[in-house]
Amino acid sequence: MRYRITLAVFSTLILMLFAFATPLDTPEKLGEKLFSDPILSQDSSISCASCHIPGFAFCDTARVSKGVGGRLGKRNSPGITNMAAREHFFYDGRAATLEQQVLMPIQDTVEMRATLPQVLERLRRHPEYDAAFRRIYGAPADQEKLAAVLAAFVRTLETSNTPFDRWMMNKPGGMSEAAVRGREVFMKKGKCFDCHFSPDFTGDEFRNVGLYTGRRNLADRGRFDITKDSVDLGKFKVPGLRNVAVTPPYMHNGMFQTLEEVIEFYDQPNQTVPGGFNRDTLLNTPLNLTQQEKADLKTFLEALTDDRFVKLNDGR
Ligand code: HEC
Ligand code: HEC
Repeated sequence: MRYRITLAVFSTLILMLFAFATPLDTPEKLGEKLFSDPILSQDSSISCASCHIPGFAFCDTARVSKGVGGRLGKRNSPGITNMAAREHFFYDGRAATLEQQVLMPIQDTVEMRATLPQVLERLRRHPEYDAAFRRIYGAPADQEKLAAVLAAFVRTLETSNTPFDRWMMNKPGGMSEAAVRGREVFMKKGKCFDCHFSPDFTGDEFRNVGLYTGRRNLADRGRFDITKDSVDLGKFKVPGLRNVAVTPPYMHNGMFQTLEEVIEFYDQPNQTVPGGFNRDTLLNTPLNLTQQEKADLKTFLEALTDDRFVKLNDGR
């Protein structure tokens, strides 16, 4: 018994020391801590990091993630690196800013299932978090401040330490010859760059690659649910492709397990998913890539992985 008490006192002291050594004195640091804390979910079982796993470029490895009580969501959890320059959030673009976005999973009845008053009350009663909000903002936690710290942390997840970026800047450690050839395929024959452009490989547009047929796992209407405009039926936000090699499974419904499968799909869209409604005309004709071109394209996509994720995922 005495041993246990000593241990408890000792570990509390260590924790306090640790807290003292890394004070939560910026929105980013506080946001990072809250991101991994299940305190934001109804029954304190799920954190943002449960579905956005730091080692996998902040995505989930499951086809769809489990929320509170094991409830399954309907979309694949995307990696959330390089969000700072995005113009819309979610596959259907239903949030216009990160500040709006970050409060939604907390209140989503499938994901964290909490209410804002409940969560804010907990944060105000939590000595470390209460002190942190007061230190940073001079006032206790409220909805805006919670949104601000979470969004501030998500904005820190920019990743440009990649072979691709070094190659662009003529620095050592750039792309292999295969990746350079793959980039050519990406830019020209593969037509990938027509939709996946800009430094993060997305133009932040909504496009239709033909993954809506109305049947089974292809029944998500995407952007249409927000605009109710029939031209948007089956359109999804073009995802950025940085770190894509460490974020399987792929697409809004997680239907492809590997980059090879994604490339096969783009090579022969109508053969892989027949009858895709309103498929973009760019994908009307098969690409007919050679085996070499497909392999090079995959090597190029792998060259978009930030160094911080490469080691973690070695030997997978
Ligand atoms: C139960 C799993 C789950 C939890 C918990 C969760 N997310 Fe997500 N997140 C998702 C899914 C699934 C999507 C995509 C949903 C969609 O597009 O409709 C998403 C999308 C996002 C996006 C938008 C990405 C983009 O490309 O537009 C951001 C940013 C994000 N989440 C941050 C967070 C933060 C911050 C938290 C914690 C407050 C959180 N998520 C909690 C599953 C989760
Ligand atoms: C017409 C526009 C368009 C073209 C052309 C296009 N894409 Fe996409 N891409 C999209 C959209 C939209 C999505 C999201 C679809 C979804 O989730 O249902 C996507 C998703 C992806 C994903 C999955 C990302 C993830 O995190 O789930 C990869 C990988 C990808 N594209 C690579 C490519 C490659 C490689 C090419 C060229 C061979 C290409 N794309 C051509 C629009 C396009």
